[in-house]
Amino acid sequence: MTEQQEAMRVQPGEVLLDAEDIAQVVAQLGRRISSDYSGRHPILINLLKGGVVFLADLIRQITIPHHIEFMGVSSYENGTRSSGNVRILEDLTRSIEGRDVIIVEDVIDTGTTLAYILNMLQLRNPRSIEVCALLRKTQVSDRTHIPVRYIGREIPDVFIVGYGLDYDENYRHLPHIARLDLPGE
Ligand code: IMP
Ligand code: MG
Repeated sequence: MTEQQEAMRVQPGEVLLDAEDIAQVVAQLGRRISSDYSGRHPILINLLKGGVVFLADLIRQITIPHHIEFMGVSSYENGTRSSGNVRILEDLTRSIEGRDVIIVEDVIDTGTTLAYILNMLQLRNPRSIEVCALLRKTQVSDRTHIPVRYIGREIPDVFIVGYGLDYDENYRHLPHIARLDLPGE
């Protein structure tokens, strides 16, 4: 059996948020950002690849002018636990100096990725930086305690897939977010 076939043997289970739940949460975040940043022109920085589906939906719920940028980061090395090592795979194409930045993240688990990115971006002198995360796993595992202004939903500390989130690059296409239990974890 190939590695891909092996990975596909683990199937997503219980649905934590269906497509309708997600749409509601995203619409609410879009409204809040539109009102908080009224009269400004923020840059939304999306963390690839998990956050891409969220970003695509979120920007269509934002009614004020804004730019988008992408940053390729990796913290999980093909597993289900954060490795603690954040790697920058792709950097921004524009300067963020003097700009209002909103980091758009799919899920905050340990907070390692965000803490690293926040520190790095602060050094580039933006006017402000806030975080918008679709999901945050229970505080217990958020060891870095990053201030997150926008959180769509708090969820239990379980591994999830769908709506951009993957397990070994699979299941990003699911329209809902489901729990994935791995044997032996
Ligand atoms: P952290 O650095 O531990 O906060 O992990 C954050 C990153 O790991 C997120 O940007 C996700 O891409 C990924 N991640 C965290 N939890 C999950 C999960 O349950 N499923 C899939 N990816 C996850
Ligand atoms: Mg991610």
